[in-house]
Amino acid sequence: MIDNLPQLEADALATITAAADSEQLTDVQTDVVGKGAPLTLARRDLGSLPPEDRKAAGQALNEVRARIEQALETRRSEIAAVERVAQMETERLDLTEVSESAHIGHAHIVTQAWEALEDVFAGMGFRVAEGPQVETDWHNFDALNIPPGHPARDGFDTIYVEHGEPGSTLLRTHTSPVQIRAMLTQEPPIYIVAPGRVFRRDTADSTHLSVFQQIEGLVIDKGISLADLAGTIEAFTDSYFGSDFSSRLRPNHFPFTEPSAEFDIQLPDGSWLELGGCGMVHPNVLKAGGIDPEEWSGFAFGFGIDRLAMMKFGVDDIREAFTNDIRFIRQF
Ligand code: DAH
Repeated sequence: MIDNLPQLEADALATITAAADSEQLTDVQTDVVGKGAPLTLARRDLGSLPPEDRKAAGQALNEVRARIEQALETRRSEIAAVERVAQMETERLDLTEVSESAHIGHAHIVTQAWEALEDVFAGMGFRVAEGPQVETDWHNFDALNIPPGHPARDGFDTIYVEHGEPGSTLLRTHTSPVQIRAMLTQEPPIYIVAPGRVFRRDTADSTHLSVFQQIEGLVIDKGISLADLAGTIEAFTDSYFGSDFSSRLRPNHFPFTEPSAEFDIQLPDGSWLELGGCGMVHPNVLKAGGIDPEEWSGFAFGFGIDRLAMMKFGVDDIREAFTNDIRFIRQF
């Protein structure tokens, strides 16, 4: 065996290179350097050599063994690297994958309409304003030219809150009190819209709920006329609904505007839909807001956001939008 060392080394190195995985390499290791391996057995042959040859033969044997062990080690780390990559591949989690069955939520139809309205009016130069839902009787009525005993108060089905003097605090029945708050806190010119939640003692039916949302608009500037109001409503109709929709004003009456109008939207099929109220801000309202009606004039408008969402999404019973039925919600 000892004469056959070069062949033995070549065979061992070839099997080491051929080992495909760490399990095979472990077997190969036993075969080439284990107890029964030819190389190990060759040690015993040393004794049968003439003493003068033993040293050189022993050294040659050790060198071959060292090279084989080095080759084993190199192959082991090569295999380990390949196996690590393969393991990472099988254990990899694809966190970017979106399952077909996973439903990502979306905003409620009323919120969608609310946000779209804010965008449209912001694009026209309006700022978004807010006011409290629990409001004083003064802001909700008196300041809007609806004094105690005024018949318009009866039309509102107001929900009063037990706070302060009886009848002095209420859940706002419309977003119009935000007009007063804006005038009292800002210097004109004022260009605001105020979307918000309002409350009325109403029996629920397909078009009414006792909690609903409105959006109020208020413009106060110098030389504002009814033409500015009509133009603004038309520009809004164009950008919210599209250029195949148009608008018109019809005379009406509201205590807080003079003159007052109802505004309608004409659908592409020619039919008209009543959307909201508007008008030139009444001088008494300007005065309540601390603004001189001799110097400034303005217009205001208000309409229901829920009504608009129903129209936009083709919902014919508003109660459906608030029953939290996932089959309804998912449609939009
Ligand atoms: N506040 C009225 C309501 O809730 C709507 C309204 C009408 C608002 C005319 C206005 C307006 O600003 O000018 O019924």
